[in-house]
Amino acid sequence: MNIFDAIKTRKSVRKYLDKPVEEEKLNQILEAAHLAPSASNRQEWRFVVVQDKDTRKKLAQAAGSQSFVGEAPVVLAACAETDGKVMKCGLPCHPINVAIALDHIMLTAVELGLGTCWIGHFDALEVKKILGIPEEIVIVGLMPLGYPADPSAIQKKRLSMDQIIHMERW
Ligand SMILES: Cc1cc2nc3c(=O)[nH]c(=O)nc-3n(C[C@H](O)[C@H](O)[C@H](O)COP(=O)(O)O)c2cc1C
Repeated sequence: MNIFDAIKTRKSVRKYLDKPVEEEKLNQILEAAHLAPSASNRQEWRFVVVQDKDTRKKLAQAAGSQSFVGEAPVVLAACAETDGKVMKCGLPCHPINVAIALDHIMLTAVELGLGTCWIGHFDALEVKKILGIPEEIVIVGLMPLGYPADPSAIQKKRLSMDQIIHMERW
């Protein structure tokens, strides 16, 4: 699969098969995050890989009872170990750096026949308590990972290109 096919195929998966993710695939996915670019090569991403069923269920509760989160065989908690560095442009590095790593994960998952869904709706304090994540670590997102129960293509709902692109000037 070429990269553009992976981009077109990727969708948020909210239903997973009860089938484990092979260790080799999981390692490949984590390696994709490891190789992501980051501001000043800060690499401030950290991941907690959760496979324990009870812990996944607790994470689903902490994610506003989005039960599909706990049904995936793996849940990643994508975190930043950061000093809060703000770039000259005024934006903090860490959520951007972790987001790029997560995008690498999402696209690599597609290539390997797996699905993901970015989860931004979660109680960070609760997730920290469940996973023993230190107070100073920032949790950027949760990401269930597993084999999609319904791998059929969906029509992506997107704005039209001319709503998002300005040529030469805004
Ligand atoms: C930062 C971020 C937070 C998100 N949070 C959630 C979430 O908590 N629950 C959920 O079901 N989907 C969540 N999504 C998935 C979006 O709803 C989804 O990406 C969007 O509707 C486009 O659909 P697609 O991913 O299938 O292309 C999130 C996506 C992003 C990028």
